[in-house]
Amino acid sequence: MSVTASLCSTLLVFGIFVFVSADQRTITAESGQNIVFTCRAPKNNIIGVEWNRADLRDEYVLSYRDKQFDPDGQHPSFMNRVDLQDRKMKDGNWSLILKDVTINDTGTYKCRVFSGETRSWETINTVSLTVSGE
Ligand SMILES: *[C@@H]1O[C@H](CO)[C@@H](O)[C@H](O)[C@H]1NC(C)=O
Ligand SMILES: *[C@@H]1O[C@H](CO)[C@@H](O)[C@H](O)[C@H]1NC(C)=O
Repeated sequence: MSVTASLCSTLLVFGIFVFVSADQRTITAESGQNIVFTCRAPKNNIIGVEWNRADLRDEYVLSYRDKQFDPDGQHPSFMNRVDLQDRKMKDGNWSLILKDVTINDTGTYKCRVFSGETRSWETINTVSLTVSGE
């Protein structure tokens, strides 16, 4: 995969484009903002995505597999606050929208996709989010 392409992706923060450099890959937001974590997977035969946060053990931020969202293992704090940016998941676009962030959303988010070809998970990228209080 093209590391450079994923490192140089831009993230939309409330109309402000934040450049994510190779060194940083961080987002700084203020509480109440909606943010987007970019995740761009190779197009071929991806059948699911899982967004995790490093400090959450078994629960995930969002899980989508075999054409449906799976709310069962979702950490309660993300309920009704997350969505995939492109609901059609076109062109391998598995970017995550997180709405109305709070300081408690601070953490390292990881996107991994499930390949129907290799029947295995592949990590695409991680982004650190820091949210400052009101
Ligand atoms: C993902 O899809 C959304 C909505 O169509 C679009 O605005 C965004 O630019 C796409 N992101 C990537 C990385 O392709
Ligand atoms: C953050 O989490 C703490 C502990 O669970 C909670 O007491 C507090 O209300 C939360 N803050 C926000 C802004 O959600």
